[in-house]
Amino acid sequence: MYCQFAKRTLFVIFIFLVVLFTSSCKQTESNQNDIESRVNNLLSEMTLEEKIGQMSQIDPGYLSDDQMNQTVREGKYGSFLNIFGVEKINALQKIAMEESRLKIPLIIGRDVIHGYRTIFPIPLGMAATWNPQIVKKAFRISSVEASSQGIRWTFAPMIDITWDPRWGRIAEGCGEDPYLASALAKAMVEGIQGDDLTDPTAVAACAKHFVGYGFAEGGRDYNTTYISEPVLRNVVLKPFKAAKDAGALTFMSAFNDLNGVPTSGNEFTLRQILRDEWHYEGMVVSDWASVTEMISHGYCANEKEAALKAITAGVDMEMSSTSYMNHLKSLIDEGKVNLTLIDEAVKNILRLKFKLGLFENPYVNPEAEKQILAPEFLDHARTVARQSAVLLKNELNTLPLSSDISSVAIIGPLADAPRDQLGTWVFDGKAENSVTPLTAIKEVLGNAKVNYAAGMTYSRDKSKTGFAGAIAAAKKSQAILFFAGEEWILSGEGQSRGEINLPGVQEELIEELAKLGKPLVVVVMAGRPLAIGNVVEQSNALLYAFHGGSMAGPALADLIFGKESPSGKLPVTFVKGSGQIPFYYYHNNTGRPANTKSWTPIDSIPVINSQASLGYKSFHLDYGFTPLFPFGYGLSYTTFKYSNLILSSTEMASNGNLTIKVSVLNDGDIDADEIVQLYIRDRVGSITRPVKELKGFKRIHLKSRETVGVTFELPASELEFFNGKENVIESGEFDLWIGPNSDEGLHSEFSIK
Ligand code: BGC
Repeated sequence: MYCQFAKRTLFVIFIFLVVLFTSSCKQTESNQNDIESRVNNLLSEMTLEEKIGQMSQIDPGYLSDDQMNQTVREGKYGSFLNIFGVEKINALQKIAMEESRLKIPLIIGRDVIHGYRTIFPIPLGMAATWNPQIVKKAFRISSVEASSQGIRWTFAPMIDITWDPRWGRIAEGCGEDPYLASALAKAMVEGIQGDDLTDPTAVAACAKHFVGYGFAEGGRDYNTTYISEPVLRNVVLKPFKAAKDAGALTFMSAFNDLNGVPTSGNEFTLRQILRDEWHYEGMVVSDWASVTEMISHGYCANEKEAALKAITAGVDMEMSSTSYMNHLKSLIDEGKVNLTLIDEAVKNILRLKFKLGLFENPYVNPEAEKQILAPEFLDHARTVARQSAVLLKNELNTLPLSSDISSVAIIGPLADAPRDQLGTWVFDGKAENSVTPLTAIKEVLGNAKVNYAAGMTYSRDKSKTGFAGAIAAAKKSQAILFFAGEEWILSGEGQSRGEINLPGVQEELIEELAKLGKPLVVVVMAGRPLAIGNVVEQSNALLYAFHGGSMAGPALADLIFGKESPSGKLPVTFVKGSGQIPFYYYHNNTGRPANTKSWTPIDSIPVINSQASLGYKSFHLDYGFTPLFPFGYGLSYTTFKYSNLILSSTEMASNGNLTIKVSVLNDGDIDADEIVQLYIRDRVGSITRPVKELKGFKRIHLKSRETVGVTFELPASELEFFNGKENVIESGEFDLWIGPNSDEGLHSEFSIK
């Protein structure tokens, strides 16, 4: 009887859900149809000048208010970037909505890369959390703050894969791995845009820079890129596809030339891949003047040709330069550009504005800005900063320090550098809202126990005059906390470095302090993975914190005094020195992979030699063949033990799925998070395959002595790759590892039939 009742109830619920689902699908469909017809109606009323206006975006910084108002009245620009503020934007939108002929609202864009006023760790730091949920929430908060100032379009997420830590913009991306970057790209897009695009806090995301910009030769920004099609498709494009699938409303074409064709005029990437293969229906904006930079590239003779190539390739809106405004009309008159190309671009732009509900409500509610820097936003910034720090060394459990410690010396140029800890790409965050490590540690210990002497005034400082004071502070303290790193200005756009060691005399000061024989903890706050081999040797514990944002100080204090264990893992391989670049964990094997036996260190080569080869393997005589720290690496205050790796089968069909289980034990006295990582290797392929590839990860929380079972699903589709001709899932043998980083783990194997 009960059973029958339950069945009936389930049936009713099922029918209800089906009706709900169908009606919500119908609703979305009808909204969509509605938008399409509104777009078409509006388009049919537009003059060519008005269309070209929609396709043009400028930073009106150099215009007076009157001039700006006039351009809006005339419909000269569809979008502005870098203006913000409730009053200003409401006034401009009022002109657009009431005084322009067609009453098309503006869309205001800005770079909100890792927070608007509440600043989160740089994206590379956020990637070190391996925690898409908290990253999504961080981006949601950024959108809530930014939209309260009228910004409804952000040029984020930046999802350029890079293998080069010299490149300053490594700070802005998610590191080297396509799987991790794809998971984060999805989280970022979802966070930025929110659940309802018409909500006033929804901001359009912009997946950038499409594509290959992170492969700038020599790590010099804006440089040429040569990327083979397999690397392009198997690595570089992956996060962009994830962003597209997550619904990213816009894409940005890039600065770089790719295999000889600038990416802002590249029909292969913008039209064939993005539109024809991926069926992307969003809008494409150029990067800042990247259309006219095609002249410097030597790809276009003049502005007119640049406009022609950009529109032909599929750039809908031109940022900053004015080649569309100056030349599209004559290109149409001359028959070189078909009006349908223009119409497609304008439709993409109008669709975006309709989707965001800007026609219905272009104005900003003045009340919304009250949320800026809300305590829960700052709290979340602290959580993200805490999870982004990676413990790279912890000799004899130097960390955590007891909060009963009698005194600590706080030294180093980043200990009290409120602007630097915010990192690059911060236009709106303010140093006065940062809490520095010095302030936070004083809060924990009380002023009397803190002996502060920076020793250097900024990271590049070459003067040693502060050394004596720093050494004196260290001498009277029980432990030394050295906050090392880079100023924010040393990473970011145009800020590439040739050598990636700690700048200035930081290493010398650390060496002097190490001589004192006291526990020496180094915290590195930087915009890139630095070559810190010497510092690792000199210190007893090393915490890599990237630039951690507004709440970096309290987050670091939480970790240093053991309120929580560090749990971040490296999103990028750490090299021993610039000469090892590029070094990424998913390299191919070569015909002569190195091993410990084959490596001859440079100092062990005898002085007198006959013609010989030292090992005949792939390594550097000086660096060897391993990095400083591998991808995925990061320690904890506890230890984790992995056991019982079980696969649901040792065989999988090419459309099948494997279920993989493993047990993880927290074998220590404190509760902590671990990031469990799944890697595979396709042993033989129709093209050579990487030695390892990340195919799954999970951040789990384990109480002390607790064992947790972790399950992964590995669909065969994850093993697909582009082999130079087509996407394939090839039969054969695979290795599989589950472990704490890309270098360690339990091993198993399976095959695809
Ligand atoms: C950068 C973009 C940015 C744009 C607008 C360019 O220089 O490459 O990432 O979105 O400026 O500020």
